[in-house]
Amino acid sequence: MRNHSAQEWECAADVVVVGAGIAGLTTALGLRARGLRVMVVAASTRLTATALAQGGVAVVDGGDPLDSPALHVADTVAAGAGLVEPRAAQLVVAHGAAAVATLIQRGARFDHDENGTLRRTMEGGHSRPRIIHAGGDATGAEIQRALVRAAGHEHPGIVVLDGSTVTDLAVQAGAVVGARVIDEAGATGIIHAPAVVLATGGLGQLYEVTTNPAGARGDGIELALRAGATVADMEFVQFHPTMLYLPHASGTSPLISEAVRGEGAILLDHDGQRVTDPGDGGDLAPRDIVARAIARRMARAGTNHVYLDARHLPGFAQRFPTITRLCRAEGIEPAHDLIPVAPGAHYHCGGISTDAWGRTTVPGLYAVGEVARTGLHGANRLASNSLLEAAVMGDRAARAITADDWPRNRASLDQDSFDAPALEPSAVPRDATEADDLPGLMSQHAGVVRDESGLERLAGILAGSWTGPALVARAIVHGALHRRETRGCHTRTDHPRSDPAAARSTSLRLAHGALIPEDLEVPVHA
Ligand code: SIN
Repeated sequence: MRNHSAQEWECAADVVVVGAGIAGLTTALGLRARGLRVMVVAASTRLTATALAQGGVAVVDGGDPLDSPALHVADTVAAGAGLVEPRAAQLVVAHGAAAVATLIQRGARFDHDENGTLRRTMEGGHSRPRIIHAGGDATGAEIQRALVRAAGHEHPGIVVLDGSTVTDLAVQAGAVVGARVIDEAGATGIIHAPAVVLATGGLGQLYEVTTNPAGARGDGIELALRAGATVADMEFVQFHPTMLYLPHASGTSPLISEAVRGEGAILLDHDGQRVTDPGDGGDLAPRDIVARAIARRMARAGTNHVYLDARHLPGFAQRFPTITRLCRAEGIEPAHDLIPVAPGAHYHCGGISTDAWGRTTVPGLYAVGEVARTGLHGANRLASNSLLEAAVMGDRAARAITADDWPRNRASLDQDSFDAPALEPSAVPRDATEADDLPGLMSQHAGVVRDESGLERLAGILAGSWTGPALVARAIVHGALHRRETRGCHTRTDHPRSDPAAARSTSLRLAHGALIPEDLEVPVHA
């Protein structure tokens, strides 16, 4: 690493990976195993969305004779409400068992039953119990532990800039050629690299209450948009039906895993009546349906939460140690008490458009995990398909980057010759909209339920902001405003039905100071 001054440093790598959850570390390990020099830039290698994941990994690995890849694909397609690209689902499901085997080989310890086979559970929208987990409800924490260890111990060649942030992508002649970084000490620098992988996770912190870790505000989407990449399906923000309801909570709140309903817990309102409709799949319907049912019941009753009844489940504390600890911290004993729950922002189903190898529409730029839109999730992600997708696509992106014909000497290009960012800096400071309570506005107008007047109002407030979280929010609002129907996790009270004519993905690009809708058929090819 070369220091220009106390403020500016410069170095080179074959690949920069931005983010250190399952997607980023799987990609980094795959690249390193193929001999490439990898730098991982991450705000944290500990506090990632992966580390917070409770439920598990949905996988068909031959352990259940009544399950099959075709069934898993069918469940994924059904949950996705008409927008899943079947070939993306087939691809991810087909490579799932191998990806789980790789996680195990890298040190992840999943839970087994008394016969020594992987223990499987149910979650909403699945027709078979195919969710594997670790430490009961600490699946993500175990995967994070194993991958961080693997990256540090087995592959000392992976350089991790922990506590650092990418502020911009360097673009030259329309291709990404590196990343500008602010490091832990506050010094800025540039990493020259002919390939950059965005694995930055989600955007739940654009909302008031979320399961996502601090900082999850769609930074990767902003970077990609500003580098000229196409994003798609931005309006599909998935709200998890059951976050622990804490009065006056804001920011990250505890999740009550869907696996709790998978084990038999039921949703009740304040009068003790069931919240979900058995005809719609009941408490184990896909989560858009359950979140909507809860939102409607709360609106009808004028309350801000409902309850999850898990009192009858045997051995709750052993099966769900993390949730038990989180509940007890709030004075709730799941074996005796109803658990107050409400929906919260959980997962972004849209994101940066990629092909089946993680390639974006900009040469040299790749995206993997939640920040990417592969076509797997459609309008509503099937529970526990996200860790699966990240593990499968991380490996595929590593293969693609190794094979792609990028000029390896790009890494030595002179930073003075970089193109200006796609747009001039905005007149609106990065934190201006935050000061105006962006999470409050997003929750109110672009939350579980939306309508035209609220979205129009929000679009007006955000107009002209094309940096920072406000730009990402604008892209969500744009998609939500123009999708005049209810589909998956996008619920329009003024258009309460799905419109068959609207059963297609929408995509956007930032150009000439505006978000430009595109007709992009995202290529999905194995
Ligand atoms: C959960 O444990 O309910 C979350 C699983 C997921 O979001 O896939």
